Formats: sequence, structure tokens, C-alpha cells
Amino acid sequence: MVNEEMIHYLERLLPKKEEAIVAMEQYAHEHHVPIMDALGIETMLHILKLVQPTRILEIGTAIGYSAIRMAKALPNAHIVTIERDEKRYKQALVYAEQTNTKAQMTLLFGDALHISDEVKKHAPFDVLFIDAAKGQYRRFFELYEPLLSERGIIITDNVLFKGLVATNEPIEQKRIRQLIKKIQAYNEWLMAHPRYETVIIPIGDGMAISRKRGQQPND
Ligand SMILES: C[S@@+](CC[C@H](N)C(=O)[O-])C[C@H]1O[C@@H](n2cnc3c(N)ncnc32)[C@H](O)[C@@H]1O
Repeated sequence: MVNEEMIHYLERLLPKKEEAIVAMEQYAHEHHVPIMDALGIETMLHILKLVQPTRILEIGTAIGYSAIRMAKALPNAHIVTIERDEKRYKQALVYAEQTNTKAQMTLLFGDALHISDEVKKHAPFDVLFIDAAKGQYRRFFELYEPLLSERGIIITDNVLFKGLVATNEPIEQKRIRQLIKKIQAYNEWLMAHPRYETVIIPIGDGMAISRKRGQQPND
């Protein structure tokens, strides 16, 4: 992974964020809500600006941080985002209102594995962003990949899980060991996918970018 010094150096180069965004970061920090880190979100937004999606499906809203950052970076995009934790979902509604991004968003409350019929009504999507329960990545991918447009891409966050997927050190906690195994299995499955080609970027917590094989730039 990129070392700490480099991370701090790159973070210092980032443009100043507006107050509402900083307030969300503080809320997330204080309430232990896992949101994308500074370099991860900037990298993703940059990729999205190149892709210029008009519809994005996000699995894992939390308090709406990444959805709001996407809405602000892509004024022509609509974001459908799913959260199963009621408190976080409600907080996301508040933040969407406060940041004037609500019109660009459809916030769905529920388990992404159970509300696909509702999600289908909003398809097709140019981007599927998977940022929810790490042990379920493959299920999210298989459930929602069919809703992608021809030029659709899939972004999966946390695929390096703090570097733990690559460590040779013994992991004490059984739950973490099992989670690591699941992420490793997802990464291997994804890299060998017959219809998608994937690159894993070691930024943030590790981000996989998958695009359809044989896709031409103007498709
Ligand atoms: C890492 S956080 C999302 C962070 C957010 N994307 C951001 O960067 O601002 C993951 C969220 O996914 C939610 N989640 C986990 N599994 C889910 C599922 N099956 N359906 C809906 N939400 C889920 C969790 O409650 C948690 O709030």
C-alpha cells in the first residue's frame, strides 16, 4: 500500500472542501461511521468524471457522504443508494437536504439483497458502486450487474481491507480471518471473470474497477 508519509503528502495537496462536507466527515469520525477516505473518494470521483455516468447505483449509503460527493461532482447524474441501517439512512436524508443534493438522489431503505425488485425500477445504471457488507460482495455483484448499461462499470471498495488480504502475519480474530478469506475469494473470482476485466488500485482501502471485456471507448 501507499505509505503513511505519501498519503499525508497527497492529502495535503487536495483542494479545500466545503464546510458541509467537512461536517459530514466529522460526524462520521465521531459516530464511528465508515466512509470513504480522502484519497479513495477523490480517485473514484476522478474516474467518474471521466466516465460521465447519468445513473449510479450505490450499495451502502451510510450517512450519504459518498453519494453526496458524487452528486456534487456530477451535476447531471442521478444516484440511487441503498442503506439497511435506519439511523444512517435517516441521517443521509438530512444531509442530502442540507447539501441541496436530494433532487439528484433516490435513497432506499432496506437490505440490498432483498430489494432488487424496487431497484430494478430505476435501472439501467452506468455505474454500480459496491461499498456494503464485505462478505457479500459477490452476491451484490451478481444481483445488480445485470442492471448495468452497455458501457457500465463496477467499482468495489475495500478490496485490500487495510492490506490484510496480503498479509502473512497470523490474524487472531476468527471473524476477521473469515472476512479476509471472503474478500480474497471475491478478488480472485473478479479478476478471472469471463465478461469483466478488472484493475485493483491500492489507494484508500483498495478499489477494484471492472469494465466489460471488449468495451470500446464510445460504446
Ligand atoms: C462502508 S459503509 C458505506 C460508506 C459510504 N459509501 C460512504 O463512503 O460514504 C457501508 C454501509 O453499508 C451498509 N450495508 C451493509 N450491508 C448492507 C446491505 N446488505 N444492504 C444495505 N446496506 C448495507 C452498512 O449499514 C453501512 O452503513
